[in-house]
Amino acid sequence: MNQSNKKNLEFIINSGLNYFLQDSPRKWFENEKKLVQSDFNKNTGDKKTQIDEVIKDLKNHKSSLQKSATKLVVYDGNLNAKVMLIGEAPGRDEDQQGIPFVGRAGQLLNKMLLAINLEREDVYITNVVNWRPPDNRTPNDNEILEFLPFLQRQIDIIKPKFIFLLGGVAAKAILSTPLALGKLRGKWHEYKSLNLEQGIPTIASYHPAFLLRSPQYKKHSWEDLQMLQEKIEK
Ligand code: URA
Repeated sequence: MNQSNKKNLEFIINSGLNYFLQDSPRKWFENEKKLVQSDFNKNTGDKKTQIDEVIKDLKNHKSSLQKSATKLVVYDGNLNAKVMLIGEAPGRDEDQQGIPFVGRAGQLLNKMLLAINLEREDVYITNVVNWRPPDNRTPNDNEILEFLPFLQRQIDIIKPKFIFLLGGVAAKAILSTPLALGKLRGKWHEYKSLNLEQGIPTIASYHPAFLLRSPQYKKHSWEDLQMLQEKIEK
């Protein structure tokens, strides 16, 4: 094996891609190797104030989901991120900690990001719905619509260059389509907002919780991640 192939192979193994593509990944909770330093240390003051305003409004918003939930879950990551990831709703671990994607699905998400050379701290991670639905059920259409304005405000504030939708609920909310993920994934869409000068290129792909249950779909997820990586690194 020549030196550059060896380097590539080492990179792939270190990146977590190896774990991500395995059917029964192990060592999910091992500390990950830091691959890239975050270069997003720019001033986030203005965005922070605006996001705090969204959080305040979410706290004041009376939702029936709040009754059975513990903590409000809004975002994790970087306010200057180029990439915004949008999931469905908090699960049990997220509800306990008040942070999105910290459970098993979150661990897989971290691996997926590392596989395209992104750290969790480089992206902005949020959900369509900000309170955990009872028994982790899928949010219904009314709940999606109830929280959509808060999500749209976050997109307007963060102004990501790319959006990556994790699962059918996020795809339905952001792309306003009843089409199944199988039909939506593998191509670029555009998210439009009256408050943004330009549409935001958007990919819809599989949710990490679904990938944990159905690892045979990881190869499609990997294709979608590579589409994103190609654009980010251009
Ligand atoms: N699933 C989601 O969609 N979001 C989370 O935060 C955790 C699991």
